[in-house]
Amino acid sequence: MKKSVRKAVIAGNWKMNKTPSETTALINEMKPLVADADCDVVLCVPYIDIPAAVEAAKGSNIKIGAENIHFKASGAYTGEISADMLKEAGVEYVVVGHSERRTYFGETDQTVNLRTLAAVNAGFTAIVCVGETLEQRELGYTETLLKYQTKMALTNVKPEQLKNVIIAYEPVWAIGTGVTATAEQADEGNGYVRAAIAEAYGADAAEAVTVQYGGSMNAKNADELLEKVNVDGGLIGGASLKAEDFSIIVKAASK
Ligand code: 13P
Repeated sequence: MKKSVRKAVIAGNWKMNKTPSETTALINEMKPLVADADCDVVLCVPYIDIPAAVEAAKGSNIKIGAENIHFKASGAYTGEISADMLKEAGVEYVVVGHSERRTYFGETDQTVNLRTLAAVNAGFTAIVCVGETLEQRELGYTETLLKYQTKMALTNVKPEQLKNVIIAYEPVWAIGTGVTATAEQADEGNGYVRAAIAEAYGADAAEAVTVQYGGSMNAKNADELLEKVNVDGGLIGGASLKAEDFSIIVKAASK
């Protein structure tokens, strides 16, 4: 982390876990544990849990995010949720382009870009996910792919909107597998993301963007990962479902 120039952000991504009542209970358990955080603390929760999450987080330092956003303002898009709906619900962050959405729900670099634009144009902070599969890594395409995904996601995002963008480098092979990237691999991947931003927006802009690492980050490995200069925080899946584990990661980012 380079706290002198960038904001450290620890965000939970609950994925398809927790009911509304479980949401209230978990956030109430987390609140005192993360109250002293010297980093931004975000919980991205399922749509149905957002009202309970916003209510439970009121008056605390926990900010609430959604796990997706649709790119149209309204219309015949069964099952989708718009920026206006999220805004009214009190959401501040939106995860975009998670690899699970790319893999299971046909998300492409183009739709990731449209959703990123919808998020930043509505004033949310977009947490844009990029990452290579194991096959792509073994073929030597990690740098090319991370730069491509980053630039594609940011197409038509204006320089002044970059302050509302976080990129999360999430190697697909490290998500939910218990296999974490080494601190060096995380730093290198995040560095490729930052280099892509520098190519598109210039070095100063790239220095200011928060780049998270995600993929089996947990209470045990957070310290080592967050010590790396390019790792400005984490996008946490499994460990964000346990108050104590999540708070240990928040503490690691607060040092
Ligand atoms: P895990 O922390 O469960 O590996 O999930 C990471 C992730 O996909 C966060 O978006």
